[in-house]
Amino acid sequence: MPINANALSGVEIVGIGAHTPDKVLTNKDLESMMDTSDEWIQQRTGIKQRYRADHENGETVLYLAKGALEKTLADAKMAPTDLDLVILATMSQEMTCPPTACRLVNMVGAGNAGAWDFSAACCGFVFAMNNAYGLMQTGNYNNVAVIGADTLTQSVEFNTHGRGAAILFGDAAAGVILRKTDDTSKGILGQAMHSDGARWDDLYIPKTVHDLNEADREGNTQLNVLHMNGAGVFRFAVGTFSKVIGDTLDAAGVSADEVDHYVCHQSNRRILDAAKERFGLADEKLHVNIDRFGNTVAASVPLVLNDLREAGRVHAGQRVMFVGFGGGLTWGTSLWQI
Ligand code: COA
Repeated sequence: MPINANALSGVEIVGIGAHTPDKVLTNKDLESMMDTSDEWIQQRTGIKQRYRADHENGETVLYLAKGALEKTLADAKMAPTDLDLVILATMSQEMTCPPTACRLVNMVGAGNAGAWDFSAACCGFVFAMNNAYGLMQTGNYNNVAVIGADTLTQSVEFNTHGRGAAILFGDAAAGVILRKTDDTSKGILGQAMHSDGARWDDLYIPKTVHDLNEADREGNTQLNVLHMNGAGVFRFAVGTFSKVIGDTLDAAGVSADEVDHYVCHQSNRRILDAAKERFGLADEKLHVNIDRFGNTVAASVPLVLNDLREAGRVHAGQRVMFVGFGGGLTWGTSLWQI
């Protein structure tokens, strides 16, 4: 009996695509902006470069998401008008209203497809995949785009004061097209979604002074920039990452070996290495691209999938586990038979 025997419909991933800004920001570039070094950044994070959107000249999160959605549609050989829903996972929305996703649908010519922004920080894409799957099981939605897009370089300070966060983040967009199929073996085999709001201030972007936590009121009163407890997030991520993978495998009755690709949020190479070690995974099972992109928040997980697609390593019949963790705090998985 297939593991997802309760599925009403199968759901398959029929398109994958990504879009990055033109400008690359290397560790050497950062050396001229703040007190840091290429060696320090590579040793602590594994990052060599990241992309930075030119927001002033229109390279906004909407522009990146449009590029990713168009490439994803091309990969799926679908017309924009085939889409029933577009879910945009992002924490870099252009405005509070309208949802950026509505303008995205309009820009690509997807008619009146349902559209909304989905905010779950670095878990955005993973949680949105679980949501899209659920909607496709119960609603009349045949073709759904799930795009992750973020421009967090706008929310960090490129100076020595902000160097803890400035070195980590990059801008990008990437996503998938999901299509309903009669083959019920395709779709989600297991999933998990969790949060711990007690630790909201481990990663937060205050808008007003009232948002600042007690410690920052005394010290770091900067608004509209990311405040991050780097060491705390690191400890949380190492433990939680392995646990949520293990829990998902157990619930689905799948062994670590039976998953072909662990497509994981790229926040720090050392966190990914710890998970590899814990499950005895070969390098090719847990692809790392943080060296080229940095942490691209909601785009990070589908950017890894896009790398695998470009390398010809994504095939029907494989099992793929998407894994995310980040601000909220949030953490979760989405395990697919593709
Ligand atoms: N360049 C050079 N030195 C830096 C630096 C930088 N970019 N950033 C911090 N430092 C310094 C610190 O000031 C500190 O100096 P001190 O000992 O004189 O006070 C020292 O390096 C160690 O700082 P610390 O913050 O303890 O370093 P770390 O080993 O924890 O690495 C991170 C910092 C941010 C790389 C690491 O904590 C991390 O990756 N955390 C997870 C963050 C994350 O993933 N966030 C997103 C989640 S989705």
